[in-house]
Amino acid sequence: MSQKSIVFFYSWAGHTEKMASIIASKVGADIREIKPQALYSKDYNKVVAQAKAEINKGFMPLIEKVSCELSDYDIVYIGTPIWWGTMAPPLATFLHENDFSGKIIMPFSTHGGGGKGSSDGDIAKMCSGATVKDMHTTYEGGGRKADAEISAWLSNADLLK
Ligand SMILES: Cc1cc2nc3c(=O)[nH]c(=O)nc-3n(C[C@H](O)[C@H](O)[C@H](O)COP(=O)(O)O)c2cc1C
Repeated sequence: MSQKSIVFFYSWAGHTEKMASIIASKVGADIREIKPQALYSKDYNKVVAQAKAEINKGFMPLIEKVSCELSDYDIVYIGTPIWWGTMAPPLATFLHENDFSGKIIMPFSTHGGGGKGSSDGDIAKMCSGATVKDMHTTYEGGGRKADAEISAWLSNADLLK
């Protein structure tokens, strides 16, 4: 039986969303956006300050219900922008609320030049019982090489169709 996959992502400014769409189309996965119930400000300085406070406290914001039956999927792609060196809080909420044991997790992130920070280890800690593969990370949209780099990452994990 062929393995079924789904992409979950949170994105504030669109870069991670773009990555998520490329991945979903390459592997033929379903895709779902994670949305906080209270949207973050569109003002960069405000969201940076709010994110810092939330991450320092380990705060997990309420998120909208994500419509999907997780048990239908074998491979779960999880994407986040890097905020203060880790995953964005709405993704932390989503990971906290779901059980990924037995799944293959393919984490991905976009950053602003500081790299993935501790996000891959932080995600792995919240997915106990899952097999968490190497994270794919890019600088914002990834530029012209984005597509080829995603293909290489998928191919490395033997997941490219
Ligand atoms: C609140 C906030 C915190 C950020 N913290 C970091 C960081 O620690 N390291 C980094 O390289 N980029 C940081 N960035 C930049 C984003 O990770 C980067 O622009 C990312 O591609 C945004 O993804 P998105 O368009 O999906 O929201 C931060 C951006 C915001 C808004």
